[in-house]
Amino acid sequence: MVPETVAWTGDSLRVLDQRALPEEIVFLECRSVADVAEAICTLAVRGAPAIGIAAAYGVVIGARADRRNLENFIYQLAATRPTAVNLFWALGRMRAVAEREAEEPDDIFLSRLLFEAGSIHHEDVAGNKRMGSFGAALLPQQATILTHCNAGALATGGHGTALGILRSAREAGKEIVKVYADETRPLLQGARLTAWELAEDGFDVTVICDSMAGYLMGKQKIDAVIVGADRIAANGDAANKIGTYGLAVLAAYHKIPFYIAAPESTFDRSLSEGCEIPIEERGAEEVRLLPGGKRVPEAISVWNPAFDVTPAALIAAIVTENGVYRPPYDFSK
Ligand code: MRU
Repeated sequence: MVPETVAWTGDSLRVLDQRALPEEIVFLECRSVADVAEAICTLAVRGAPAIGIAAAYGVVIGARADRRNLENFIYQLAATRPTAVNLFWALGRMRAVAEREAEEPDDIFLSRLLFEAGSIHHEDVAGNKRMGSFGAALLPQQATILTHCNAGALATGGHGTALGILRSAREAGKEIVKVYADETRPLLQGARLTAWELAEDGFDVTVICDSMAGYLMGKQKIDAVIVGADRIAANGDAANKIGTYGLAVLAAYHKIPFYIAAPESTFDRSLSEGCEIPIEERGAEEVRLLPGGKRVPEAISVWNPAFDVTPAALIAAIVTENGVYRPPYDFSK
């Protein structure tokens, strides 16, 4: 069983520290907004929906410390990671409750905020299960799947988006013959998290280096590529972990359906195209440090964009908790 990614303990946020996986199961107790912000920045908690949920509980922690300082706390949480729009969506929901309940005494104010954070959390799990059923219907009776990064229970409130579809398909009696997990350089969310999460739940999972996907597609029947997303523009262009775009191009060449699974909270209807999505660039050290402890020499520069944008034209369907969208996409309304 995969432990809960985030849980409210009554006076703190308990976070499964994903940096320690798969070797160790370690939990962090976040007792301040700074703790929550640090957990998000360092990827102790990661994955677009899980970031939003953690930030929502972070607002509760801030309000308990000093409700008059709430806007600063929200600002601090919003400054953690730029690409996953679920973060700003969740903070927006929390801010709206704080404004609506501004005249309430502390105990009621805090209970309303906690209720909202809990709702964001539980709606995510329920939504993933609905998304899972819609996505499962897209798969053949026996399916071999390729995925990238981690869009599973670890990246969400539970069940997962892309990996939730596999769980739901299995529950519906379909056979997930094998899942290939891209290792997902540089932070190895596929090799460390997806492989562990799927193996914990009894799936047959095989890790490949990111560069092996094209060869795999040419050699072995892959029924679908399914990945998550961090932000989807109004025209359907979708930002996800770096390497996703290349995978979509390969899938198109090999005529393999490429599916995005994401909740409605991942849509950014204010952006008309994917080129407007802010792409996080992380520190060089993540790329410089190589497997086995070797390093890219310090004199050589490295570049570390954490996400890329897959053009809508390469996406066969976008699966959400409300159903399956097919091209041409228009999420402007
Ligand atoms: O940098 P990360 O690990 O937060 O990136 C996560 C991804 O790219 C996921 O695919 C995405 O957030 C969807 S999670 C359901």
